[in-house]
Parts: sequence; structure tokens; C-alpha cells
Amino acid sequence: MPVPLLDLKAQFATIRDEVVPALMAAVESQQFIMGPAVGELECAVAGLCRTREAIACASGTDALLLPLKAMLAPGDEVITSPFTFFATAGAVWNAGGRPVFVDIDPATFNLDVEQAGDAVTPRTRAIVPVHLYGQMAPMERVMSLAAARGLAVVEDCAQAIGARRRIEGAWTMAGELGTVGAFSFFPSKNLGAWGDGGMMVTQDADLGARLRRLRTHGGAKQYHHDEVGTNSRLDTLQAAVLKVKLAHLDAWNRARRAHAAAYTEAFADLDGLTPPPTDPANEHTFHQYTVRCGRRDELVAALKAAGIGCAVYYPKPLHLQPCFAGLGYRAGQFAEAERATREVVSLPVYPELTRPQRDEVIDTVRRALR
Ligand SMILES: Cc1ncc(COP(=O)(O)O)c(C=O)c1O
Repeated sequence: MPVPLLDLKAQFATIRDEVVPALMAAVESQQFIMGPAVGELECAVAGLCRTREAIACASGTDALLLPLKAMLAPGDEVITSPFTFFATAGAVWNAGGRPVFVDIDPATFNLDVEQAGDAVTPRTRAIVPVHLYGQMAPMERVMSLAAARGLAVVEDCAQAIGARRRIEGAWTMAGELGTVGAFSFFPSKNLGAWGDGGMMVTQDADLGARLRRLRTHGGAKQYHHDEVGTNSRLDTLQAAVLKVKLAHLDAWNRARRAHAAAYTEAFADLDGLTPPPTDPANEHTFHQYTVRCGRRDELVAALKAAGIGCAVYYPKPLHLQPCFAGLGYRAGQFAEAERATREVVSLPVYPELTRPQRDEVIDTVRRALR
């Protein structure tokens, strides 16, 4: 039985009756740019993240880029993880900053905060923790480091909408604590649009107003430009789709957690494989269910042969990307990030995965590593 890594057609089948009329209402309105659905989605996301502001934009990449542009002077250093999607560091670079990489915590794959503290220099302006695979970085530690050293925090929440972490006895949402939280609505994300889309959240009303200006060429008033921004809006059609899907996010994230728990239980006695540990303070949203395996290539070959979708996120760390050669990093410098690139593989964990499909994945993994 083939099992895809992600099945968006299966998801569409469950929401067709809600999403098609919502989309058609947006079409009937013919308000394709900044129609009412955009503001409604912004309110709903601000509610979910418990932030004062939510500002929609064209992609998760822009949701990182616009706040970094607002914060950075040329050459400012920004500390981040080398084990993430390229956009995290690409946005720093495109905003005129210099990415400074530190190694990851091997258990959670997230930024090692102690090493981040050691990397702070007088040129450091911000930290970009990435909530990789849907599990939050230890934000209480990131925020206290940032407060002690006077740094901004841009949370890369692209993979973590709805994720939360218990801090001092209370739940804190991804995006709630940072100076800005950046979300992606790329179709494969836990909350995915039917194209590109993104959202910035912040508690800072002035910064929120500035981000609103930056997404429309830096002007609050039409044809009046206080600073140079760009065109980075979320289409009304995408907002209409996302509003419908947002109502299902909690149930979808719960289904992902249930699949993850079943996998982790089924793999507990496998010697050659390490299931992804969840930090006890976190509620993981399993954007990816990513195991470590010393015989990764063998496992990938067995999964492929059985028609089971899998992927390696990410096969090359960012400090070794050719475009960053000028930053002067070398192989071996971030041993944990580099080991992760050799060992990780993500398995199907989408909400609509059926029980027989999940069992098929489990059986195939167990057979491959016997
Ligand atoms: C960690 C991370 N950061 C940033 C992005 C960029 O988001 P987008 O593809 O919407 O530009 C992504 C998504 O692909 C991501 O996974």
C-alpha cells in the first residue's frame, strides 16, 4: 500500500464543503487585494498566538525578512541555527545582516541557547530561534539571554503554528514572546494555503504598524512613502482558505500527535533508530515526525521500495552552503548539526493518515532495521 509523505487531496476532501463556498464568496466580492478575509484571518491568528498584532504577508520568507529589515543596520550580526530551511538565514542576509551560526541541541534539533550566549558580540542585534519540526525552542532561555544582552528575537515559527510551551506553569504560544513571530502558510505546513502566504505577529503596536507599512511599499497613506518597503501582501483568496482551515488546526495538530505517539511506541525497541524526543515542557505539533537512524540511507531505500514517502530535512547545514562560503565556516564546526544532516529522515505524519497506512509505515521501518 503506497503511503505519501503528505496527502493534501485527502485533507481537501474533508473540508471541500466549507472551503469552496468561502473561496467563491471572496471571488464574488472581487476584492482580491486586502479584502475582508485578510483582516479576519489576522484577528484569528493574533487570537491563537495571543499577540496584539498579526500582519499577513506574502510568504514565511517575507515574514522573517520584513522584521529583520526593520531592525538591522548593514553588517549587524544575527545568531541562528545552521540546521533549518534556507530561508531562515537567507532572510538575515537579504535584510543586510550577517548570519552567525551556533550548533543545535541534539535532542530537539533546536538552537543551543548556551552557545548562542557565547556567540554574542557588540555587533549582535538579534537571535532567530527556529521551532523546528513543530517543537518550540526554549523561549524562556532565549528571552532572558536577549533581555540580558539587549537583543531582538525573531521567532521562526514557520513549522510551528499552534505549538506551545509551558513556561513558569503557564502555556506560551509559538510567536507570543518574541519581538516578532514569523509564520509560513506554504501548502505543506500544518496550516497551509493554496499557494504562498505568511504572517508576522508581535506584541509591539509600533512595530506592527511599521510592518504593515513595509508590506505596502513603506507607506501608511497611498502615494506617500516614509521608508522603502515592498509588495508583500497575502491574497484575499488565500486568507479565505486559511480562515476555514484555521478552525481545524487544533484537531489536525492533535491527530499528528496521535500518529507520532503511535510511531514512537512502535519504534521503542528498535536499536538502530531514535524517535524524536519531545521536551517535557513542549506540546509538539509534529509538522514533521523526524527520526534519527545510523543506517539512514538503507532505511530511505527500503521506504522508497515500499512506496512510502519520506524526506530528509535537511541534507546540508547552512554554514556549509556555497553561498555562505564567505562567512568562513568549515566542516566539523557544528558537529551536532552536521550529524543530524546525516541521520535524520521524516516519515508520513499528516492528520488524514489512516491506521492501515500508519501500520504499513511501522512494518516497513521495522523490517528494514531488523
Ligand atoms: C523553518 C522555515 N523557515 C522559513 C520558511 C519559509 O517559508 P515560505 O516557504 O513560506 O517562504 C520555511 C518554509 O518553508 C521553514 O520551514
